[in-house]
Amino acid sequence: MGLCDARVVAVTGAGRGLGRAHARAFAAEGARVVVNDLGVGLDGRPDADSPAARVVEEIREAGGEAVAHGGDVATEEGAAALVRTALDAFGRLDTLVNNAGFLRDRMLVNLGEDDFDAVVRVHLKGHFLPLRHAVAHWRAEAKAGRPVAARVINTTSGAGLLGSVGQGNYAAAKAGIVGLTLVAAAETARYGVQVNAIAPAARTRMTERTFADLAALPEDVSPLVVWLGSTASAGVTGRVFEAEGGRLTVMEGWRPGPTATSPTRWTPGEAGEAALGLLAASEPPLPVYGT
Ligand SMILES: NC(=O)c1ccc[n+]([C@@H]2O[C@H](COP(=O)([O-])OP(=O)(O)OC[C@H]3O[C@@H](n4cnc5c(N)ncnc54)[C@H](O)[C@@H]3O)[C@@H](O)[C@H]2O)c1
Repeated sequence: MGLCDARVVAVTGAGRGLGRAHARAFAAEGARVVVNDLGVGLDGRPDADSPAARVVEEIREAGGEAVAHGGDVATEEGAAALVRTALDAFGRLDTLVNNAGFLRDRMLVNLGEDDFDAVVRVHLKGHFLPLRHAVAHWRAEAKAGRPVAARVINTTSGAGLLGSVGQGNYAAAKAGIVGLTLVAAAETARYGVQVNAIAPAARTRMTERTFADLAALPEDVSPLVVWLGSTASAGVTGRVFEAEGGRLTVMEGWRPGPTATSPTRWTPGEAGEAALGLLAASEPPLPVYGT
């Protein structure tokens, strides 16, 4: 008996790194898996590689069931085809893991519009579109009276939660994914959908140069993703977890701190004085990565 027997799981960017580990871990728990990967370089530019088919082979060799999908999840067509592939191959979709993405790191003064757009597009739109297509399917299922116990796991980053020097485009996209997660969790609970996010840390091609001493493996992150993607996580939604090696942390997000109110409109000077008082009474923020 596997934790995900009878479930169908789609994982984006699953041709290597974290996505590959998630896909294999789901298959090992009995899920049938759609392995999506466009097969691009670390900067998102075209690559001759087609890693999704390789991961499908690995899963089949281990006795599991999987199919490959090679589309771009940041396009309407690619996202629609991802959901359709699950339905055509396996007749259902239960869990979506949004994971695909790439980096174009630059300090803000050198960050060109193309590199900003490409990174925001692949991460933020590349989460939004598969999410929307999957949710449309689950809403139709719920409306047809069929029980839905659907799960979405989005992938944010410490960069999105705390900021990261040289990653303005990426941090903005990953922070956006947290906002999207909260809205999706609130809007889709009524259809039987749970939406959570993880901020992983593991040694992959994305981190091997910048964080050379990061030794934790993608396979260390996948158990939490599999649990979130199973029916065992019933009741957990709209939350963000960090996962690195053997350490799991639930992140506690923005919440109101010290507050001041005035019965009349503040003058700028009064507002500044009040703000300094609030700052003095508040918890200092955690440092931005890279500072
Ligand atoms: N590795 C870490 O420590 C770390 C930390 C924080 C967040 N993340 C996030 O985890 C996710 C996976 O990262 P990784 O480290 O495994 O990177 P990776 O480069 O090893 O894997 C990402 C995969 O996504 C695929 N991809 C890129 N654009 C795509 C698209 N438009 N459609 C389909 N597939 C596409 C690539 O071909 C690649 O195989 C990313 O969202 C990344 O930002 C990773």
